[in-house]
Amino acid sequence: MKELLCLGIEGTAHTFGAAVVTGKKRILSDVRDMYTTESGGIIPSEAARHHKELSNEIIENALREANKEFNDIDIISFSRSPGLAPCLLATKDKAIELAKKYNKDLVGVNHAVSHLTSGLLFTEARNPVYIYVSGANTQIIALIDKRFRILGETLDVGLGNALDKFGRGIGLGFPSGPKIEELAKDGKYIELPYTVKGMDLAFSGIVTEAVNKYKKGFKKEDLCFSIQETLFAMLTEVVERALAFTEKKEALLIGGVAANKRLAEMLEIMCKERKAKFYSVPIKYSGDNAIMIGWQGILEYNAGKRDNLNVDIDDSERTDEVEVIWH
Ligand code: ATP
Ligand code: FE2
Repeated sequence: MKELLCLGIEGTAHTFGAAVVTGKKRILSDVRDMYTTESGGIIPSEAARHHKELSNEIIENALREANKEFNDIDIISFSRSPGLAPCLLATKDKAIELAKKYNKDLVGVNHAVSHLTSGLLFTEARNPVYIYVSGANTQIIALIDKRFRILGETLDVGLGNALDKFGRGIGLGFPSGPKIEELAKDGKYIELPYTVKGMDLAFSGIVTEAVNKYKKGFKKEDLCFSIQETLFAMLTEVVERALAFTEKKEALLIGGVAANKRLAEMLEIMCKERKAKFYSVPIKYSGDNAIMIGWQGILEYNAGKRDNLNVDIDDSERTDEVEVIWH
């Protein structure tokens, strides 16, 4: 039987990407371009314009890299939710235009859910507690009764944004996460507040306190080390509780902050002590990409999902609103 081929298109926020993925888990291409600004902020209409300007070229390159033509493609999947509305609209319009023109089946998918499911494509994990830590998001998630249940989450900003805010406060450029990781290697521990509330986390107060300490003359390196140790210990504590609660034997780290080696090390030590396996998505796939959208398209298509050409975007669809029909 012919291998199913899906063209995935991602465009929820800063990154526009296209990738060709197969039903046998083969990644044939991965092309992306990121809209960036000096400040690190994002102007939604400008990002959408970036997507519109580059979409044809990126999609053509993804097909070329895969050595395929539109004729070979069975499904077009695209990131339908959640994200910045202008970006989602630009992405949807392109996906519909192509599905119509080439008469392909269309599947709109949830971007955050795709981050989770592609974790199983990129690693050997099978049924983990998911640790989703990006700029905007920090959630501890597990698949329970056909839904991705959010067991714990940040009560204010995401872990990446917390690190970036602290970085801005001590004069590091954007994104600060990697720079903090580097400086922390030469730092010593200074006590900071620690805020875990049940299964939830709060980062903002700690960031404020760390920046205040910098203004009082504490060393950058020591503060970088201490903020990492504190925020990562909080996260590790909640993940440990989630493993105990769900009785799952695997933990999977995903999202942009997964690039941090110290975070992975702390989680790995905790998992070892609990005899659980620890996995982390490879850095090159931890950010936004279209492979995950292509793979999610295949999963949902195989479970019978098809969208019509009137499909609409949903800029705020939550992870636990999606019924997991493909399991
Ligand atoms: P999404 O919208 O999908 O949640 P996002 O755009 O908010 O994603 P990502 O692109 O997944 O975020 O991740 C970016 C974040 O990761 C930034 O906040 C950045 O500082 C952080 N980051 C990147 N590398 C490291 C690192 N080595 N250590 C800590 N944080 C890092
Ligand atoms: Fe993302």
